[in-house]
Amino acid sequence: MDLVEAIEQRISCRAFDMRPVEEEKLAALKAEVERINEVGGLNFQLYGPREDGSALDMSPGMFAGNPPCYVALVGKTGAEAEEKLGYYGEQLVLVATQLGLGTCWVASTYDTDTVRADVGEGEKLWCVLPVGYAPAKMPLKQRTLRAGLRRRDKKMDAIWHGAIPFAQVPEWVQAGVIAAQKGPSAVNSQPYVFSQESADAPVRAEAVPARTTLENVDLGIAKCHFQVAAEACGKPGHWEWDSGGAYVLD
Ligand SMILES: Cc1cc2nc3c(=O)[nH]c(=O)nc-3n(C[C@H](O)[C@H](O)[C@H](O)COP(=O)(O)O)c2cc1C
Repeated sequence: MDLVEAIEQRISCRAFDMRPVEEEKLAALKAEVERINEVGGLNFQLYGPREDGSALDMSPGMFAGNPPCYVALVGKTGAEAEEKLGYYGEQLVLVATQLGLGTCWVASTYDTDTVRADVGEGEKLWCVLPVGYAPAKMPLKQRTLRAGLRRRDKKMDAIWHGAIPFAQVPEWVQAGVIAAQKGPSAVNSQPYVFSQESADAPVRAEAVPARTTLENVDLGIAKCHFQVAAEACGKPGHWEWDSGGAYVLD
């Protein structure tokens, strides 16, 4: 599965069966966590099962079952650090998806009394990322929950504020914005806008203040997805950090 396929496949997985994650897959996740901490200046931590085989208690109102492992998404506070947490955290989500594992960004719906995380000075545990196997059939409650949230998807004209109508921008820009829209965001608020002042200007991405206050994390996730799709269309580049930053072609 390539990264574009991983974007297509990924959903917020809110049900886990008790199947443990194989050692090779745990090792691959651990390697990705270490890479991210190195390049992103983050402090992600992978935790495995407790004695009962599960790693963390999820809120039963949202989740069916607990995951066998999870990643504590720990990072510094401040707009740029939060954006990086989203950008690199989503890279981890896509790697887990490629490994056939289910994940979900979770800011609030877990039992904080059961969470293990080393949080240093000036850092915060922003989210947890439960990781495990979804049951063969997703329970109706979790399917309904997801459908209800996804029904709030923003229309493209709320996400694209370019001088050129979205239908007329180059295919790689369309692919990037559509990939961003497919990504996760807190309560699916999709609090970001992509824009381009003119056909020759770079594409920019800006956060829109959200009630969740997680808009910078969501912006980082959206930038990650945009870049994956742009690169797959033959337009490799990198993002300038911060709201309003440009996608700079390499
Ligand atoms: C930063 C962030 C925090 C989130 N927090 C929660 C949460 O606490 N509980 C939950 O069930 N889902 C949470 N989600 C998942 C979103 O609800 C989900 O991404 C969104 O509804 C889109 O659905 P999808 O990811 O299945 O495509 C969070 C997502 C993000 C990006």
